[in-house]
Amino acid sequence: MTESSPPPPLQLDTVQLGDDYYQRPLAYFARMREEGPVTLVTMPWGARAWLVTRYADVRAALADPRLYKDWAGKLTPPDWVPDEVTGYLNMHLLNADPPDHTRLRKLVSKGFTARRVAGLRPRVEAITRSLLDETEARAAVLKETGGEDTVDLIEAFAFPLPVTVICELLGVPAEDREQFRAWSNAIVADNAGPGAFRAAGTAMFHYFTNLVAAKRAHPADDMVSALIEARDSGDSLNERELIAMLFLLLVAGHETTTNLIASGTLALLLNPAEMARLRADASLLPGAVEELLRYVNPLNHATDRFTLEPVEIGGVTIPAREWVLCVTTSANMDPDRFPDAGRLDVSRDAGGHVAFGHGIHFCLGAPLACLEAEIAFGALLSRFPSLSLAADPATLRWRESSLIHGLETLPVRLA
Ligand code: HEM
Repeated sequence: MTESSPPPPLQLDTVQLGDDYYQRPLAYFARMREEGPVTLVTMPWGARAWLVTRYADVRAALADPRLYKDWAGKLTPPDWVPDEVTGYLNMHLLNADPPDHTRLRKLVSKGFTARRVAGLRPRVEAITRSLLDETEARAAVLKETGGEDTVDLIEAFAFPLPVTVICELLGVPAEDREQFRAWSNAIVADNAGPGAFRAAGTAMFHYFTNLVAAKRAHPADDMVSALIEARDSGDSLNERELIAMLFLLLVAGHETTTNLIASGTLALLLNPAEMARLRADASLLPGAVEELLRYVNPLNHATDRFTLEPVEIGGVTIPAREWVLCVTTSANMDPDRFPDAGRLDVSRDAGGHVAFGHGIHFCLGAPLACLEAEIAFGALLSRFPSLSLAADPATLRWRESSLIHGLETLPVRLA
């Protein structure tokens, strides 16, 4: 990773995360693991949350039924009036507790089993090939015309690959992907402001409502049509839950994998000996993907949880009605669990990392993300033996999102 200088002093009774948190979160987390592993913080935009940073505590907290997710059902007053964003888009798996969570997850899990996903390999390989062909051709034209032959690997490859795959799986037109990118950015960014967040959420709500109407009229062999069929042939999914499910699958299906591919490539470029080992022995790829997930975790922390009663974690009692964030990135860097955790080792046994979470909300898309990443890294390394970073690593910027840890751009040279 690109963090070097020590963090500013922390007041561990209530930590204020500064704007530099986005650029070097690991520095904050390392201090917290040592000095206050369960700590009340003020996020850069002002919200309060308890951060849990040690591996053992994070893993236990992720599976703790006393940490809830259904805020709409459990924290809002009886006269709460939901709008399109809070009342529709948010009614998804990551804001649900059993038994609703169990019911909703059952409906989609068969679409994402390891066997089902393995069948997607030829298609993911074909999309990868075609995106890299286009990228190579574009770089060649730039070179011939005497221009700068650098490409932004996120724009050219790390973003379009996962978004195209999830769009095809769902049955959403891939031509709309730039629009999703803009909406999704506004939804996960901490600095977009409430107006932009709401506007993006409302636009997505209308987009999915129209898509469901169109697919209802003309069903196809895709997941949107299958979910509509489940909705219309029983009472297992209501209309709000249907829209929210599509929203979650689309956003979760690309934001994270994009960042695994981009940040993972950066990590390999900054660790050339590890990159050379991987290039020389493709059988290391599946294990290397797990190690890269541990090392560059695309999410700083898992999604929001809250307490309804006082809950003790790691010897600290968190009061009732408080927000709790399980910092999976910190857990993955905990030297008590992963010796020499700050070192990238593509042959390490990284099993047990919590980049995909743990417990009932364990990432539904994990097999798909791993398949995409394995194919992406394999293709990049074998096609471009001279792949190099086209920027000073110190100038690379990370997006201003507490949840997502991802680069804004990744300028590279292919040859
Ligand atoms: C590298 C890529 C990915 C990472 C690091 C990742 C990470 C995570 C994590 C940490 C959770 C649990 C959150 C929590 O407990 O608060 C989660 C849940 C989820 N992920 Fe992923 N994810 C990735 C890719 C995907 C993909 C490709 C999909 C495709 C559909 C997906 C769909 C979901 C869904 C639907 C959930 C909610 C599961 C539930 O609540 O039962 N994810 N993911």
